Amino acid sequence: MRRVLVTGAAGQIGSELIPKLREKYGRENVVASDIREPSETLSDGPFEQLDVTDRDRLKEVVKEYDVDTVFHLAAILSATGERKPHLAWYVNMDGLYNVLEVARELELTRIFFPSSIAAFGPETPKEMTPQETVMRPKTIYGITKVAGELLCDYYFHRFGVDVRGVRYPGVISSVAPPGGGTTDYAVEMFYAALRHKRYVCFVREDTVLPMIYMPDCLKAAIDLMEADPSRLRHRADYNVTGMSFSAGELAAEIRKHIPEFTVEYRPDFRQKIADSWPRSIDDSAAREEWGWKPSYDLAATTKDMLEKLRRRFKEESP
Ligand code: NAD
Ligand code: SER
Repeated sequence: MRRVLVTGAAGQIGSELIPKLREKYGRENVVASDIREPSETLSDGPFEQLDVTDRDRLKEVVKEYDVDTVFHLAAILSATGERKPHLAWYVNMDGLYNVLEVARELELTRIFFPSSIAAFGPETPKEMTPQETVMRPKTIYGITKVAGELLCDYYFHRFGVDVRGVRYPGVISSVAPPGGGTTDYAVEMFYAALRHKRYVCFVREDTVLPMIYMPDCLKAAIDLMEADPSRLRHRADYNVTGMSFSAGELAAEIRKHIPEFTVEYRPDFRQKIADSWPRSIDDSAAREEWGWKPSYDLAATTKDMLEKLRRRFKEESP
């Protein structure tokens, strides 16, 4: 039985990872933590307010709950990172370094670190981006992700810390809103379609990016953490993807359910970030080494997102 700590648990991924982990390992065995106050979804089990840049406090929490596994989600994402590059470097690099140091010192069993498609850059091949390729990101967020992948590799080879991770594409989900990324338009479009029947999109209509729906995002994290170590040839840098579509294709798919939905395209600074990232991803290493296989394409994601959000909005204002 694992004793798990999740950092950055109040965010988009943590809000749905926590219930999944609590279902799997038991409510009391999964400690949620964040620099922010907990949301309702986190309050049915242990929660600790924790800033990952504070290594002493991190160590204290790990010891107090006898934690052996950390899902390290706390980070500053791409768009916020461009607004606050110093904060992004500090939280993303010091936070990861602290988690790895505590893992080394206290001999933790396993660490999960999510990297991102932001680790790639404009010189990277855009279609079916390979596992091993040019890594020259142009955002501070992407730079922290490449450095993070390398640091994880170092801690595995130098100190034997079993750290694993995937390069997530944009995550689409219906529980917690995304936290300052470039792929946020894909989530915002669903909310706006249901609430206002119109959306002003901050990237061009023809912008294609790889994406993943939350159930597949969670499956990737949990399956990789459960994978047989003898089969893994990579560490914290597995390419994974669910689907690729343009902003216009997403709008058209939503329109199949809400015909009156309209989108106006007004690109801002995030367009340049999106243009520097891959359009589609080759995730064959993850498929071969730990059996990765996503379940949701654009049509299935759209149907499920709209159903879930409709239900939620009805409950919020019956
Ligand atoms: P998010 O922004 O929604 O959540 C991050 C959480 O970290 C927030 O709740 C925030 O309060 C917390 N945080 C910030 N600074 C902190 C600090 N100093 N100490 C403790 N907590 C702090 O992000 P997310 O979408 O849930 O992403 C989780 C991880 O997955 C991140 O590492 C991110 O880079 C990665 N990722 C996300 C996506 C995506 O599309 N959501 C894609 C690729 C990778
Ligand atoms: N969705 C994330 C972002 O846009 C990618 O890591 O920042």
